[in-house]
Amino acid sequence: MRVEQLYKKNTHSWMVMGRDPDRREEVIDTNQYLIQSNGRGLLLDPGGVENFSVVAAEFSKHFDLANVEAIFASHQDPDVISSLSFWIQANPKLLVYVPKIWVSFITHFGVSLENMRPIPDEGGVITVGGRDLEVVPAHYLHSPGNLSIYDPEAKIFFSGDIGAALLPEDHTDLFVTDFAEHANCMEYFHRRWMPSNTAKARWIAEVRRRDVEMLCPQHGAIFKGDDVGRFLSWFENLDVGSGWSNVR
Ligand SMILES: [Fe+2]
Ligand SMILES: [Fe+2]
Repeated sequence: MRVEQLYKKNTHSWMVMGRDPDRREEVIDTNQYLIQSNGRGLLLDPGGVENFSVVAAEFSKHFDLANVEAIFASHQDPDVISSLSFWIQANPKLLVYVPKIWVSFITHFGVSLENMRPIPDEGGVITVGGRDLEVVPAHYLHSPGNLSIYDPEAKIFFSGDIGAALLPEDHTDLFVTDFAEHANCMEYFHRRWMPSNTAKARWIAEVRRRDVEMLCPQHGAIFKGDDVGRFLSWFENLDVGSGWSNVR
C-alpha cells in the first residue's frame, strides 16, 4: 500500500493511497484520497470495511486523523463507503457528505442522521479548512445519485468510478503512461457499468468547463495533463449501458 502526494502548496495538499499489494485477490483495488487544507482533512471515498485498518494506518503516518473532519462519498457502493462506521467510531463528530437520494440507504452502514450532510442533486460546495470544493453532479455514472469533486486551486477533479480501470497486478504506475493500452483496461467497465450516454455527455461538458490538470478515479491510474482530454474524448465516443449492452 502506498501513499503518494499529488499536490502541495502551502497548507493545501492532496494525497492518494491505493494499489495495495496485500489485499485479498477477490477485493477490488481502490484509491483513497485525502485533501488537507489549513490543518483540516477531507477523505474522498474512504473505501470498504476490508481495508479500513490499512487506510487509517497509512494515512496517519502523514496526517493526524483526529483532524479529518469530513468524509465525502461519491455514491453508495460498498467499495466506496462500507468502512463508514469505523471512521465514525474513531471520530463521532465526523461529517458525512453523500448524495441526498442515498441517505436512507447509507444509514445501513451504521451511521446516524446527525452525521449526515445530504448533497442535493444539483451539487454544491463543501468547505474544508476554509477552502471551497465544488461538488459536481455525475448522476447515472454509474449510480443514480452520483457526485464528483473539483478543487479549483489544485485543479484536481475527483471522478469516482468514472475513469476507473481494472489494471493487471504488475501495473503499479500512479499515472496513466500509455493511454491506448490503458483504455483496454477501462472499456468493459465503462460499457457495462455506466448506463446512460446522455448522462455521460452532460458530465463531460461539466468537466470541460473547468481547468483540470489531474482527473482522479477511485480505481486504477490517474490521468494527468493531456491524458485528461484524451480520456474525455475516449469516453465521449464510447457507447455505454443499454446503448451497448447485450445483457437482457
Ligand atoms: Fe461504484
Ligand atoms: Fe468503485
